[in-house]
Amino acid sequence: MAGFDKVSIETLFRIDGDTALVTGAGGGLGRIAAIALAGAGAHVAVTEEIREAGGIAQPWQLDVADRKRIDEVVDAAAEQFGGLQILINNAGIARRGPAESFPDEDWDAVVEVNMTAPFVCARRAAKYMLAQGEGRIVSIASIMGFRANNIFPHIPYQATKGAIVNMTRSLAVEWADRGIRVNAIAPTFFYTNLGADMRQRRPEVVAEIEARTPLGRFGEPEELAGGILYLCSKASSMVTGHTLAIDGGWLAV
Ligand SMILES: NC(=O)c1ccc[n+]([C@@H]2O[C@H](COP(=O)([O-])OP(=O)(O)OC[C@H]3O[C@@H](n4cnc5c(N)ncnc54)[C@H](O)[C@@H]3O)[C@@H](O)[C@H]2O)c1
Repeated sequence: MAGFDKVSIETLFRIDGDTALVTGAGGGLGRIAAIALAGAGAHVAVTEEIREAGGIAQPWQLDVADRKRIDEVVDAAAEQFGGLQILINNAGIARRGPAESFPDEDWDAVVEVNMTAPFVCARRAAKYMLAQGEGRIVSIASIMGFRANNIFPHIPYQATKGAIVNMTRSLAVEWADRGIRVNAIAPTFFYTNLGADMRQRRPEVVAEIEARTPLGRFGEPEELAGGILYLCSKASSMVTGHTLAIDGGWLAV
């Protein structure tokens, strides 16, 4: 392979000096994404709905259902660090219930946070990335974006995560010739707040999920880090429009 002698961990995975904005980074997968990016050399602007997620870089309060506030925070992060190279659309919510009686307000809340907000964040981030001629956007989708779910019903989650998979393809194509790569990650069930709660209260559901998963277990939040670093660094320079499953083989079945 031409140039192979120049390949090293440093040239592939370091992102020194890049600015990364991570939504919903106060815990769970967002916190791991922020730590991984900071560890690889990025300035990390973390946003959180209520709690502050300080300690890594600059924290901002952001409810991603507030579209105007998204623009303000993206602008503030880009101004503070002199540009914006990486956006991680991580904030997400789930509301459960049968489709036939699903309430409008819960539908709207999930659509706003899981689908509209990632677009609004990407649109504002692209203002800086297009001007720079480079950028990487990674959205956290889900295995639920590829498959139905007969373990528990949550129709807006299914719909919005599927939308993220195709929005990723669409934005990737639209911005490909102007230096922005757009990808997503589809995690399986991970032990974050949601998973931990299920582990305590619904052991039979956990057992069913584990039995259906080829690797036989939930993911631990740290297992997201490798995929984030791959998609945010030169290691994935030929990859765009892709959703990377980190799923213990769930989608392979
Ligand atoms: N944990 C899993 O099993 C799993 C599986 C597949 C996909 N995901 C996705 O991963 C992402 C992270 O989820 P998690 O598992 O870490 O759950 P989590 O509940 O631990 O974290 C979600 C984060 O989003 C934030 N958030 C929620 N609403 C927000 C709003 N309106 N504005 C700003 N921030 C908001 C929360 O404060 C929290 O920090 C979500 O998009 C979720 O759908 C999680």
